[in-house]
Amino acid sequence: MATLKIWLLLLFVATIDAALGHENYVPIITNQIHLLRPQSGSGGSYVEGLSCLSWRLAVETNNLISWTQIPTSCVDYVGHYMLGSQYRQDSELVIEQALAHAKALNISTEGTDIWVFDIDETALSNLPYYADTGFGSEPYNATKFNEWVETKAAPALPATLELYEELLNLGIKVVFITGRPESQRNVTASNLKAVGYTTWEKLVLKGSDYSGKTAVVYKSAQRKILENDGYRIVGNIGDQWSDLLGTNIGLRTFKLPDPMYYIG
Ligand SMILES: *[C@@H]1O[C@H](CO)[C@@H](O)[C@H](O)[C@H]1NC(C)=O
Ligand SMILES: *[C@@H]1O[C@H](CO)[C@@H](O)[C@H](O)[C@H]1NC(C)=O
Ligand SMILES: *[C@@H]1O[C@H](CO)[C@@H](O)[C@H](O)[C@H]1NC(C)=O
Repeated sequence: MATLKIWLLLLFVATIDAALGHENYVPIITNQIHLLRPQSGSGGSYVEGLSCLSWRLAVETNNLISWTQIPTSCVDYVGHYMLGSQYRQDSELVIEQALAHAKALNISTEGTDIWVFDIDETALSNLPYYADTGFGSEPYNATKFNEWVETKAAPALPATLELYEELLNLGIKVVFITGRPESQRNVTASNLKAVGYTTWEKLVLKGSDYSGKTAVVYKSAQRKILENDGYRIVGNIGDQWSDLLGTNIGLRTFKLPDPMYYIG
């Protein structure tokens, strides 16, 4: 009887093994961010009681506002999303649409048509920093983040760099408007140039006169100044709704994904 049980068990194991196809068998890695082999395309590990996909959708659609940290139970989910292919694919689709919009425009020959770019998680990616600090699950530490900014090591978001290059070819000028403070002008300019954003019409950083003001107020005011100076904002791209809401938003806005933090 015991022998039969063992035999049946062996048969069962062999069947499973054959069904899986030995060379295709990928061990399930739990609680680990795996850079090269995300566990699923949409970056999903299942979390009991909370759909992290619903949470991310609510974030991206601006239904969830003023949140300070991602839910602890969604750290793996957000990590897989950001490091896996889905984040890149989502970004590329945004850029495809932005490019289609740009190509359909009647660009002024006066050189007054501009496209507004945000910097963090738009032109540049702070993913190396966030991968190291829990993908937005740890409380924001300004000292630590500024140390990272000072390293000038932020890579370009590949899709955004592609848009940037195409816009310049189309005769559209680029203006960066960032929430980074004026004190980070030089490191920001160096970082941008080092990764391929070699030229721009203006690089606008947050001056002390806007301290305590929201991003919506500050960015709207800067866009208004640009329009008063005779520029036409033909497109506007950012990862935060506060890059795109408010006044003087331009002909069309484009929202890149960012489930790691919220700036109002
Ligand atoms: C494009 O703009 C120019 C002047 O800026 C104008 O003369 C021309 O008619 C416009 N073309 C279209 C297709 O709107
Ligand atoms: C913030 O980061 C700095 C620099 O890395 C570190 O010295 C400090 O302890 C951190 N603060 C908190 C509250 O974690
Ligand atoms: C930026 O660099 C310029 C020289 O290129 C220098 O005069 C200025 O003080 C620097 N600003 C900051 C904030 O470091």
